[in-house]
Amino acid sequence: MPDQSPALLRELHLLTREGNLNADALRKLKQVNHLMGLLRPAVEDVLSRHPDAVMVDAGSGNAYLGFVLYELFLKNALGGSLLSIEGRPELTERAKGRAERLGFDRMQFQTAHIDTARYPERIHLLMALHACDTATDDALVAAIRHGADHVAVVPCCQAEVAAQLKERRPVAGGSGSMSLLYAHAWHRREFGSHLTNVIRALTLEAFGYQVTVTELTGWEHSLKNELILGRRVHRENRRARVQLERLLAETGVAPKLTRELGVKPATLSTPAGGGEAPEPEAPGGSEAANPPPAGE
Ligand SMILES: C[S@@+](CC[C@H](N)C(=O)[O-])C[C@H]1O[C@@H](n2cnc3c(N)ncnc32)[C@H](O)[C@@H]1O
Repeated sequence: MPDQSPALLRELHLLTREGNLNADALRKLKQVNHLMGLLRPAVEDVLSRHPDAVMVDAGSGNAYLGFVLYELFLKNALGGSLLSIEGRPELTERAKGRAERLGFDRMQFQTAHIDTARYPERIHLLMALHACDTATDDALVAAIRHGADHVAVVPCCQAEVAAQLKERRPVAGGSGSMSLLYAHAWHRREFGSHLTNVIRALTLEAFGYQVTVTELTGWEHSLKNELILGRRVHRENRRARVQLERLLAETGVAPKLTRELGVKPATLSTPAGGGEAPEPEAPGGSEAANPPPAGE
């Protein structure tokens, strides 16, 4: 049996009339609980340091994740709240009714677009699961602007960068063979999606996050199962910022995330002798030179 109470399972319509879990419900709960296991260190970390931690679920849909998280971590805690942001009012209303009936009174709901929602001044944990296309970027912008200690996103379909690759001009000094990676529409979609997530991870690093990119295993119902986890450890990371600006310049793309955050591409210069520029160091390292954020 999963970790959820019968009251919650009934409210989420996951129990049959006889009080059993059908195969579909069991699979869904296994997936949500698996994700909870991956998020647990982040949730426990914010609650241990901020008893009144503010968590945000951006593009929450039916808010299954939020309900499960609330029951596991917030229901019996003295503080801490969870704000679910969802663009479809009928989903917000339904989730609000469920939270009232369950007595989950520190669960809040807002019908809004992720980019224009009213956020609390300070966010401690932000999650966005399968928020479509640039909505994941909007969620990451909110996390960075509101100083989230932890972020967890599972991106969804992506179209923006693929469209930019189509319009892209060859980089001066390059051989042009990079463009073979996305000459076909199918490859452009795949490569655009990969590049988008690479830029997302590197942007988080540039803004001081330690990033883990992993697979959301067990999420069989979706092909989109790349989980990007970030934990803020510095104010910024200059080396990652330089790598990010250079990647933007070399690929010629400008995704919403970097546009919103004002990250500009580097000015590329062809190295003397006409050869390729040296490869930058692999990302992932942290910069001990930068102090951790205040209040850590
Ligand atoms: C694929 S569903 C995922 C729902 C939920 N996060 C989950 O994983 O079960 C995406 C949800 O995000 C919402 N959404 C997409 N773009 C949004 C935006 N820009 N602002 C607010 N909600 C958005 C959609 O209405 C939808 O409910």
